Amino acid sequence: MKKKARIAVFISGNGSNLQAILDATRKQVLRHGQVELVVSSNADAYGVVRARQAGLPVAIIRGKDYATQDEYDNALIRAMGDYRIDLIVLAGYMNILSARFVSQYPQRIVNIHPSLIPAFSGKGYYGIKVHQAVVAAGVKISGATVYYVTDVCDGGKILAQEVVPVYDTDRPEDVQHRVLTQVEHVLYPRVIERLSEEIVGN
Ligand code: GRF
Repeated sequence: MKKKARIAVFISGNGSNLQAILDATRKQVLRHGQVELVVSSNADAYGVVRARQAGLPVAIIRGKDYATQDEYDNALIRAMGDYRIDLIVLAGYMNILSARFVSQYPQRIVNIHPSLIPAFSGKGYYGIKVHQAVVAAGVKISGATVYYVTDVCDGGKILAQEVVPVYDTDRPEDVQHRVLTQVEHVLYPRVIERLSEEIVGN
């Protein structure tokens, strides 16, 4: 195998998508990319435990530790340079990256959002709030979207979407669980493999 795309996964919480990406390497779904670094905005995130269990370096980089946005950005940019990162994968990362940071990595930052963008997306739609809104609206389908991160919240080019049913008896937590396990954990590693293959050029 030739060179692999060097991936950084940015997390803030449970890290189940991080886990799915790591499992995809073991299962050979992810073959053209390799997670080289996990960046967490939260030292206590369970995703940090998962990363350490996998033997991965973890960088805890928190906005509150820096006096200015520029210094914070510089810390992130430095980490990307130190690990020669080709692809930044946001997976439950609860910070909005600055326009300055994002502009450094055009089409090299991806995110997954737990709805069918443009529905239930943008400012204020995160975590269980997304699924509460889905249930309140009474829609019959939901899903997840993988897209390129730009400086418009949830507004970058869509790379992939997949759908799950929403049942009348569903609670928001049921939709969240269905979207996460049936779509996110399967779709995200596949898209990351596709992008990694493009990056390494074979
Ligand atoms: C996922 O639902 C993802 O779509 C959203 O945040 C959640 C992260 O879950 N951006 P996890 O930390 O990967 O378990």
